[in-house]
Amino acid sequence: MTKVATNSAAVAAQADAEFYLPADAFFRANLPTALTFDDVSLATLYSAILPKDADTSTALSESLRLQIPVISSDMDTVTESRMAIAMALNGGLGLIHYNMPAKEQVKEVARVKRHIHGLIQDPIAVAPDQLVGDLLALIEAKRFAFSTFPVVDRAGKLVGLISGNVVKDRYKTKSVADVMTPRAQLITETKRAAAKDPIRTADAFFTRNVGINKMLVVDDDDRLHGLITASDVERITAESKSRRKPARDEEFRLVVGAALSPVRKPDGSLDRDKIVEHVGHLVDEQVDCVAVSTAHGHTAGVGDVVKLVRGAFKDLTIVAGNVTSASGVAFLADSGANAIKIGQGPGSICTTRIVAGVGIPQLTALFVAGAAARKTGVKLIADGGITKSGDIVKALTLADAVILGGLLAGCREAPGEILEINGKVYKQYRGMGSHAAMKAGSAARYGHDKNDATRKVAAEGIEALKEVSGSVDDVLANLIGGVQSGMGYLGAANLPDLRTKARYIRVSPAGQKEAAPHDVIEVSTRTSSA
Ligand code: XMP
Repeated sequence: MTKVATNSAAVAAQADAEFYLPADAFFRANLPTALTFDDVSLATLYSAILPKDADTSTALSESLRLQIPVISSDMDTVTESRMAIAMALNGGLGLIHYNMPAKEQVKEVARVKRHIHGLIQDPIAVAPDQLVGDLLALIEAKRFAFSTFPVVDRAGKLVGLISGNVVKDRYKTKSVADVMTPRAQLITETKRAAAKDPIRTADAFFTRNVGINKMLVVDDDDRLHGLITASDVERITAESKSRRKPARDEEFRLVVGAALSPVRKPDGSLDRDKIVEHVGHLVDEQVDCVAVSTAHGHTAGVGDVVKLVRGAFKDLTIVAGNVTSASGVAFLADSGANAIKIGQGPGSICTTRIVAGVGIPQLTALFVAGAAARKTGVKLIADGGITKSGDIVKALTLADAVILGGLLAGCREAPGEILEINGKVYKQYRGMGSHAAMKAGSAARYGHDKNDATRKVAAEGIEALKEVSGSVDDVLANLIGGVQSGMGYLGAANLPDLRTKARYIRVSPAGQKEAAPHDVIEVSTRTSSA
């Protein structure tokens, strides 16, 4: 009996092995056709893990770890500090684009590194000689939802706290100094004690000091440096039980990256001094990685920039790209990159394949790139063409992380105004190789000169609109939920496990049709959180 069972298990395993192929056999069997996300499906495997327990953490280098394998694209309609903060709070990474003055990019990085969740770093404070009536007018004008304010003198030193209980019409002619709780009676926390983990410090502070619901943070000279409210701590603590952990550096700061352009002098040679000086400023602000972002990374120029930055900054994580070949990966790895971006022409706003006739469908490109990555130990990042969580799962069977542009461009944290057209709301999303973006600075990424007015530069991207899609929190929760489902179907406890276990099958056009909802009228019960 046992023998029969064992035999039938072996027969079953053989049938599976014959049809559902590992990457090596599958991509070779499909030669000379290159495949992308919708061309393939992943086979389910025996699973002993629940999707919610699947570990989505990854690393871009020895020093840069992420809790989720998702990076927001270094595009001027996707990632500035607001997006990068939201990405890092969700465990991912934002790459700040470079279509802005170099100084502004350094400031954007600093904004992310100085962001402390829950700590209001620049609290609205009032002066002791103001009248309660002035405060009431301020609350009315600014529509503040709070009426308790720290009181500071001209030097920024804390002199008291005025409670909402006395910010009342009845006391409008009294001065703040007359009705505030004076400094001597205030219990505060030091900046030093709160630096490491402000939320935990505040949590302990509120438990110790019964009835107090504002923690004022001061430095050694008693200057006010921040404020944490008990309600924020409670909200964040509750959230942290269900949400992913933020991606932080060793000093508990959020992680962030910045894109670098291969800046050239008027004679066409690399402006080495300018590049090193700029990266130096980014490093001074503790940037976690730089990304040498170009459309064609397997070039002498990109190799030189990577070597230059590696030579000057030994420990800095360098991302470089984009390439779609094993030789391209080996070249950038040899130049000193830690992680390589794979993707030429898959992006939702890209026209490289149409304009230049060049590029490789994304899954085959990732597979070929993997041959060199395994040899050199560099990480691979799948960049572009991802339109749904299932594409992320497929990409992660061959890569360490993904870059998203279009899926995040409609989020409220992306730069740009919200436009209303016929009752629907949109945000602008444009390719960095579109005419408008190249004019704003990104021409070098496509090997052009933005000041070149003598000839018409060929755009490799379009300008578009994305429907507003709510917050990064909501979008990432859905995407990562999908990634964990995929890992559950493959019995993959973590991402390395997913890469080892993945088995592929080719999908026909009929199979693609079958994969999407069909032959029904879809009813949407979603409510917009935009
Ligand atoms: P998705 O599909 O996520 O793609 O919107 C974002 C990625 O597309 C790349 N990108 C471009 N590629 N022309 C191109 O050929 C462009 O104008 C362009 N702009 C961005 C980039 O790699 C990005 O992360």
